[in-house]
Amino acid sequence: MSARTPANARTRLRARTEGPTRVDPQFWHERWEQGQIGFHQPDYHPALLAAWPTFALAPGSRVFVPLCGRSLDMAWLAARSHTVVGIELSPIAVEGFFEHEKLVPTREPCGALERWRAGRYELLCGDFFDLDREALGEVAGWYDRAALVALPPDLRRRYVERLAELLPAGARGLLVTVDYDQARMDGPPFSVPPVEVEGLYATAFDVEPLGRHDCLPENPRFRERGLASLFESTFRLTRR
Ligand SMILES: C[S@@+](CC[C@H](N)C(=O)[O-])C[C@H]1O[C@@H](n2cnc3c(N)ncnc32)[C@H](O)[C@@H]1O
Repeated sequence: MSARTPANARTRLRARTEGPTRVDPQFWHERWEQGQIGFHQPDYHPALLAAWPTFALAPGSRVFVPLCGRSLDMAWLAARSHTVVGIELSPIAVEGFFEHEKLVPTREPCGALERWRAGRYELLCGDFFDLDREALGEVAGWYDRAALVALPPDLRRRYVERLAELLPAGARGLLVTVDYDQARMDGPPFSVPPVEVEGLYATAFDVEPLGRHDCLPENPRFRERGLASLFESTFRLTRR
């Protein structure tokens, strides 16, 4: 590999060739610094709009958004009177979210994390794996879009184990995943087929598939990366 190979490509190559993979936090920091955030959606996610109302969570209840980026979906959840607790590695993302919402947050240390708070939002800046139940608080539900699939295989298992520790019994979550021919493209997003979702979650969660469709037509950038199909699946999860 040449010294001129871009850092992101080096990280991906390492992830592909070195056995149990690990995406370095630096990978994500560089993505944010360089504005390479093709995953960021300019609008609310249709699956959230369709499925969330059926969850019937109490107004005012806390909702967790792991690996939240600066997703506008958090604003949609807040507009439904939830308090939104997100966690995100990149301060650029956290700052960008509050700026977009025209809010000026307070900032305070929270263990290894930093809590940014304004309006109905508490965004914890730092590593998901440093989050504990006390910092998260009692949540009624969670929303995972592009979080599980952002993680390589070894971290996916740790992520689900940690979620199970963080979430109280009865908490309901909406999970949005993608799956595709992993031989045609490196992650992230990684391919996480429904059978893997079942395998990861079934010991601690009830898993209910809600839908699956080929979303490549709405995501042409993945056709350019070599994909012939890109299936998006949604699941309702309940912590037992
Ligand atoms: C693919 S993006 C998805 C962001 C958001 N969920 C959305 O739908 O736009 C994944 C995000 O997770 C963040 N991230 C990756 N690893 C993380 C970790 N260990 N802890 C906290 N955030 C992390 C990245 O910085 C990035 O913003």
